[in-house]
Amino acid sequence: MDIISKLMEEHQLEKAEWIELLSKSEDPFVVKELREAAVKLRKRYYGDKVFTRGLIEFTNYCKNGCYYCGINRENRKVKRYRLTEEEILDCCENGYGLGFRTFVLQGGEDGYFTTDRITEIIREIKKRYPDCALTLSIGERSYESYLAWRKAGADRYLLRHEAASESLYQSLHPAEMKLSSRRKCLHDLKELGYQVGAGFMVGPPGQSLEDLAEDLLFLKELEPQMVGIGPFIPHHETRFSEEKAGSIELTLFLLSIVRILLPKVLLPATTALGTMDPEGREKGLRAGANVVMPNLSPVKNRKLYDLYDNKICTGEEAAECCGCLSRRVESAGYRLVAERGDAL
Ligand code: SAM
Ligand code: FES
Repeated sequence: MDIISKLMEEHQLEKAEWIELLSKSEDPFVVKELREAAVKLRKRYYGDKVFTRGLIEFTNYCKNGCYYCGINRENRKVKRYRLTEEEILDCCENGYGLGFRTFVLQGGEDGYFTTDRITEIIREIKKRYPDCALTLSIGERSYESYLAWRKAGADRYLLRHEAASESLYQSLHPAEMKLSSRRKCLHDLKELGYQVGAGFMVGPPGQSLEDLAEDLLFLKELEPQMVGIGPFIPHHETRFSEEKAGSIELTLFLLSIVRILLPKVLLPATTALGTMDPEGREKGLRAGANVVMPNLSPVKNRKLYDLYDNKICTGEEAAECCGCLSRRVESAGYRLVAERGDAL
């Protein structure tokens, strides 16, 4: 059996087969075949629905030094901000009015937001919006914190594994950051009953096809409900400022692959994809993605959550972002829905 048929039938491959398949990301026949299979699968499980998640970037303080990230602790030039609880709740109110039923609280690893502070925010959001899902994306924290937040009502957690290959992970992060602790966090989150999102960037410095094969093997083993994949984009104040950005084509190819690997997965067409290509998110949806994440953060803070250069959607009000995305989703042949959109 050839590897494409094997992937479609068994929804997984061996490492050497992954490497062979990934080496064909520029073969138009292979790209088309995988894209069509991916679109068929997403249609089988999700029809033409695209789910929205309202993203609230509530702090750009971070104690980590991830080499690729524009808000890492070494960047002295970025102006740091934290939203108050009231500002976060205003974002939710605004988002709820616009039809959002999932809020994603994302930020750097900011010690100001202690377990108790986050617990309090979760309780308040869940009290006001019991019909909404709440997703956290605030990095590596202790089992006890994850437990407290789950008890307070958090439903989902996004923590990209970033790189499943030990050597690549270490070349993208300072020595004190360990792949083993990231893996432990992801397993803890699963055990606590969160719907979990893992993922990685496409094309950070030094990433090989073998590394990507390891990412795919890791995803199959973890079976996350969500997978975030976007191109690496250099940021001018990081050590990777002169590096090349990741490829759009390879990102789209990987979106199709991940849809086939985990057919029911919730897969965002990311802002990074939209930053690299004005039609990037539409292309992502047509490659198998089924989630978009409009920004609900206050406009005054948007530019400061500066992960990579030329990030899009930093000037618009939330309502404009939604209108724009809804038109984009329709132009790709899909329909934006106002539902919690839990994993199947
Ligand atoms: N602190 C949390 C964490 O680390 O999971 C959430 C915020 S972090 C900024 C969110 C994601 O942004 C990371 O998982 C990373 O993959 C992505 N990211 C950071 N810098 C990037 C860059 N230069 N290009 C593309 N994506 C980037
Ligand atoms: Fe912490 Fe990027 S280094 S959010």
